Amino acid sequence: MTVPGAPEPADATKWEHMELHDLPIRDDLRGRTPYGAPQIDVPVRLNTNENPYPPSKALVDDLAEEVRREAAGLNRYPDREADALRAELAGHLGHGLGAGQVWAANGSNEVLQQILQAFGGYGRTALGFEPSYSMHPIITTGTSTEWISGAREDDFSLDPAKAAAAVEEHRPDIVFLTSPNNPTGTALPLGTITRVLEAARGMVVVDEAYFEFAREGTPSALSLLPEHPRLIVTRTMSKAFAMAGTRVGYLAAHPAVIEALLLVRLPYHLSTLTQAAARVALRHRAELLGTVDDLRRERDATVSWLRARGLTVADSDANFVLFGRFPERRAVWEGLLARGVLIREVGPPEWLRVSIGTGEEMAAFRAAMEGVL
Ligand SMILES: Cc1ncc(COP(=O)(O)O)c(C=O)c1O
Repeated sequence: MTVPGAPEPADATKWEHMELHDLPIRDDLRGRTPYGAPQIDVPVRLNTNENPYPPSKALVDDLAEEVRREAAGLNRYPDREADALRAELAGHLGHGLGAGQVWAANGSNEVLQQILQAFGGYGRTALGFEPSYSMHPIITTGTSTEWISGAREDDFSLDPAKAAAAVEEHRPDIVFLTSPNNPTGTALPLGTITRVLEAARGMVVVDEAYFEFAREGTPSALSLLPEHPRLIVTRTMSKAFAMAGTRVGYLAAHPAVIEALLLVRLPYHLSTLTQAAARVALRHRAELLGTVDDLRRERDATVSWLRARGLTVADSDANFVLFGRFPERRAVWEGLLARGVLIREVGPPEWLRVSIGTGEEMAAFRAAMEGVL
């Protein structure tokens, strides 16, 4: 089998034939499939929950200037601890946090991987409540940690008593809570997070990748940090912050947790240019986060529109909507793609997820849906 998307060697005929299964890879990786949201060049891309609004000219100009300045010193390694960026991220998060309680890496995926490297590993377990973000089990098993799949209710909410019972039963080394959850859009009340924290003996990760899109007044797990030293809250610049191409994710946790992550992170993991781009983005955060209200409105309108068509739609606090149910969801996905609209075939069977785009993109989605339905 060839790896999907892997480019052919320049002259494949001169290479000895070999397939993936011929390699002495780890037994626990055999038969697995890589993460693979399709990257297809179509007019309307609503499949990876990015912010659809590109950066302004002012931001692009600022960034170009900053890159020019930093380029003169690229013979040197970057600031290994990313001190300035972490201080600015802490200021952005508020809650009285300082640089010592914040850590950053190449996307929150790398942050999550470092957490697994430090607190998971062979002979250890991580528990998450599915359907949830597909990379949680992939990163878990990639670090030789055993994945335990917990369940959600039919409406995708999490029953606090059942969640705490699952944690007590399995005693995982790491618990994943995702709020708002991907792909369902479900936000968690703080009470549920607290119940899990009280039941857990290991680390509890609250993945808040979509927090900025949550309804006004939704409290962040950041407020629980002072009383819960084993809590880690992760965030990203890839979603509301509209900087997915920059690859910056971050977390807030007790300084001792950051010390643990320093043991596994690669030296100089966050490039000088990445740190500079993130700091420029933070300077422009009012503009970048200024699109969130529009996206929330568009999301709520999309939910209403889909419901008015008799479809089942999960309540969403994020910048995407999970809807169904289609006995042949592949046919619906393909029908939309044929009309130039790419959404995501993800989540439980019979459901599809659409990321919220610009007003124009959502009009194209609705028109394509009319055609398909
Ligand atoms: C719940 C959740 N966490 C984390 C991520 C990772 O994002 P990034 O690595 O771009 O920060 C995603 C991306 O889709 C996500 O949905």
